[in-house]
Amino acid sequence: MCGIVGAIAQRNVAKILLEGLSRLEYRGYDSSGVAINNETGVRAHRAVGKVQALKDKFEAEPLDGKIGIAHTRWATHGKPTEANAHPHFSGPDLALVHNGIIENHDVLRRELKAKGYEFKSETDTEVIVHLVHEALKSEPNFVQAVKNALESLHGAFAIAVTLNDENERLVVARQGSPLVVGVGIEENFVASDQLALLHVTDQFIFLEEGDVAELTRDGVTVWDKDDIIQERPISVFNHNVDATDKGEFRHYMLKEIYEQPTVVAACLEGRLSHERVLTSCFGANSEFLKQVENVHIVACGTSYHAGMVAKYWIEDMANIPCTVEVASEYRYRKVAVPKNTLFLTLSQSGETADTLAALRMAKELNYLTTLAICNVPSSTLVRESGLTLLTKAGAEIGVASTKAFTTQLTALLITSIAIAAEKGELSDAKQAELVQALRSLPAYLDAAIKQDSTIQVVAEQFANKHHALFLGRGPMFPIALEGALKLKEISYIHAEAYPAGELKHGPLALVDEDMPIITMVPHNVMLDKLKSNLQEVAARGGELFVFADKDTDLHSEEGVTFTEVPKVDAILEPIVHTIPLQLLSYHVAVVKGTDVDQPRNLAKSVTVE
Ligand code: M6R
Repeated sequence: MCGIVGAIAQRNVAKILLEGLSRLEYRGYDSSGVAINNETGVRAHRAVGKVQALKDKFEAEPLDGKIGIAHTRWATHGKPTEANAHPHFSGPDLALVHNGIIENHDVLRRELKAKGYEFKSETDTEVIVHLVHEALKSEPNFVQAVKNALESLHGAFAIAVTLNDENERLVVARQGSPLVVGVGIEENFVASDQLALLHVTDQFIFLEEGDVAELTRDGVTVWDKDDIIQERPISVFNHNVDATDKGEFRHYMLKEIYEQPTVVAACLEGRLSHERVLTSCFGANSEFLKQVENVHIVACGTSYHAGMVAKYWIEDMANIPCTVEVASEYRYRKVAVPKNTLFLTLSQSGETADTLAALRMAKELNYLTTLAICNVPSSTLVRESGLTLLTKAGAEIGVASTKAFTTQLTALLITSIAIAAEKGELSDAKQAELVQALRSLPAYLDAAIKQDSTIQVVAEQFANKHHALFLGRGPMFPIALEGALKLKEISYIHAEAYPAGELKHGPLALVDEDMPIITMVPHNVMLDKLKSNLQEVAARGGELFVFADKDTDLHSEEGVTFTEVPKVDAILEPIVHTIPLQLLSYHVAVVKGTDVDQPRNLAKSVTVE
């Protein structure tokens, strides 16, 4: 989604802003722009495509100045053109960048046109800058004029505005889209996320909903939604700064796949004793574990798939009902909440607009408590949830989620065991066995990754494919969904996933020699049934790609490509079987030459509806 960077310093900010935009590239965008404010006025460069195109413009015609704002745009209103790229101007001295959507932009545009404003873009953003301009006619104080203008807006936004006057400052505001202030020495910054500013500071102030802030070189003043000045705490960033470095890897996605044994170990760290899950990992208030009688899981995309796996674990181990729903559906319907229901959200970013809206709605309902399983400690989701279990995957840069997913599954398994144990549904011996299995997980993930070069060869067979079908049974069905999502996201191959038992009820009609079928075969009670499904495919000339352990007795033969996955405890199978599917999608995308880390049309953090 769109990204914002802003800076006010004693030095030229052009390089800081351009580096900030490069660091935001992972979020997904299609154009970019920078406005620099100096004694000659506010001047801008904009470019369609990669940030490099913008850097080339700066190379050809440098813009210098000590105050500036910058933006990567992910098109919503209007195509990715230079005219639609931010910053937008009202007059020569006032420029603004915006992340989010202004829902009443049509009405505002008509009103502003009637007042004589000319629009140069098709964006919803341009109404905001003209509104600020209009407000400045009756309110000379820049901060107050911005506050007055914001009162007319409906929707979600984060903005940064610069005005060329004698009071050098940036004004920023947050309402529904994240914004963080970076605190420096005699310089201050703003951005959509911390990663954009790690080259200049590690000290951050997280703005809250409704905050407006004024940034000067000497300080930051924050007004809350009731217009009262607030001292927001400063947090020090403690992720590994090298998260933005690909190291020896060709893509962030591959680096993040390889990090999984390490980050899953970090996710387990401090959460297990020798034979139990430590309930203290949910904070002081872990009483809910005993009381919970139902679980509602709400999430989007990959996080939703993790929730689907957890349904199997929770119902099986804790013997309580669990529903899983995509946040964009949940938030717009009337939900029945049985007594003592836990509301559980899953999110890598903690900034997904639909998941946040679902949480806010749930907080008005009669839930036992809200628990967020999330990767970003400073995120809105974490700050607004009753309880939190951090996944500790470290910054995930690749748009296609990999390590965030396996750490979510790990955290969900911890949660499922804790609920089952606290409710007396799990014997001590069984809990000890599960804890042992969890402890062995990093080593099994490592073993699964060792199949990388084999999977790279398998991927070549997908180079000319246009469709693929993923099959799974039980908790492997959500893994099949996740495998299909990964493949379509980064290789643009159309992929569908079905529970294998559904094959005969329709999808079998699609099966022919051009349709690769990918299936993860667990070594459990469903093995024989799944083998029958595979026979049905083979009989129709379908090409099978089977991922299974040795004990399944499956092997490569005519029409069947077998890839070995380590044999693991049944409870771990969904997590370990995810690895080959991630690697398969990755290598197919490389073979097809797509932009693996920033696939077309997609954003890392979906901060608008
Ligand atoms: O940050 P979140 O986990 O809330 O994001 C949810 C989805 O947008 C995300 O998982 C998306 O589906 C990924 N691109 C999947 O790879």
